[in-house]
Amino acid sequence: MKNILVTGGAGFIGSAFVRHMVATHPEYNIIVYDKMTYAGNLDNLLSVTDEPNYRFEQGDIAHRETVKQVFDRHAIDTVVNFAAESHVDRSILSPDAFVHSNAVGVHILLDESRLFGIERFVQVSTDEVYGDIAEDTFSVEDDPFLPNSPYAASKAAGELMVRAYHITHGLNTVVTRGSNTFGPYQYPEKIVPFFITEALDNRPLPVYGNGMQVRDWLYVDDHALGVATALFKGEPGEAYNIAGEHREHNIDVTHRILELLGKPETLIKHVPDREGHDLRYAMNCDKLKALGWQQQHPFDRAITETAEWYRNNEWWWRKIKTGEYLEFYRRQYAARLAAAENA
Ligand code: NAD
Ligand code: DAU
Repeated sequence: MKNILVTGGAGFIGSAFVRHMVATHPEYNIIVYDKMTYAGNLDNLLSVTDEPNYRFEQGDIAHRETVKQVFDRHAIDTVVNFAAESHVDRSILSPDAFVHSNAVGVHILLDESRLFGIERFVQVSTDEVYGDIAEDTFSVEDDPFLPNSPYAASKAAGELMVRAYHITHGLNTVVTRGSNTFGPYQYPEKIVPFFITEALDNRPLPVYGNGMQVRDWLYVDDHALGVATALFKGEPGEAYNIAGEHREHNIDVTHRILELLGKPETLIKHVPDREGHDLRYAMNCDKLKALGWQQQHPFDRAITETAEWYRNNEWWWRKIKTGEYLEFYRRQYAARLAAAENA
């Protein structure tokens, strides 16, 4: 392993992985390949821009010719695929891009990897492939896929192609399935950065339904370390859950954010629910722990530091909350907030 292509490396979790790898593994060249969708952001990579073992290439994982050229130009031997459309609400409003990047894109990346002789392929996936799970149960890696949103279904489709390329062509693949991730540099559409930045501006926090849905919360650097562990130590053909092992109701996360920022509970607005909303995700991650991975950022400290980061880094998020972001906000929330107002 020498030249590692990190697809989607300008996004939230991919950039955390790149910052970690560039800083701690000078023996590897890290080449980011990113389409630069609305979620791609070179500000996330400012700290590594001048490092000798870092390079950036813009391109789509679904564009065969560009993938091939980049493999060639950098003599790539390893691929870590973070590239995806990642927001469930957008997959309900506009699913085409999800099938393009998360299913077709993964297929093309796999196929070019096979043809080029890539030695190791890591696919970054999600606990959403397991679907909604019952109280007191925990998903394990061999559980069936029961995805419920177009996002989750497109990620499951990508994973199934990874499995097929391992079994049919012997490609050396590993899959990770992470839980809800939070931390610095997260596009402010996901609940944690969205609610923090809205609360800082004294704007309403639209909680879907009663807010009793449960998510497992994982700090971004722990997620990145989990992917690195799977890259270095995962068994070919295997999948590994990465969980924060800290489950919360959405409404409790919302209360915590308001408390940390010293903002009033009156900002909470219960709005009409997300369509097909999964009630609960929770995973067992003993398999990854057996490879030596251990979470290093417990939830309470991590959410406190995250709220502080957004408070201190308005330069990063204020310019995002313009243009296309405002158009998405209008489509996603205008009618919901109006309905809550009239209820
Ligand atoms: P993100 O939306 O912040 O970043 C995605 C990145 O991929 C962006 O830089 C974007 O420009 C790039 N991209 C999108 N389509 C592309 C394409 N066709 N070709 C090349 N680049 C493309 O996402 P994230 O939250 O950092 O998630 C990264 C990965 O982790 C995704 O695969 C996601 O499914 C998975 N995941 C995310 C979470 C979470 O809570 N955020 C949890 C588990 C798994
Ligand atoms: O579980 C892993 C997944 O976590 C990742 O695969 C996805 O890429 C990532 O986006 C995330 O999906 P969620 O749908 O769980 O994340 P989101 O932040 O959108 O929502 C978290 C919970 O909060 C969910 O139950 C919906 C709720 N929510 C979200 C938003 C944006 C609200 O109540 N109001 C909101 O405005």
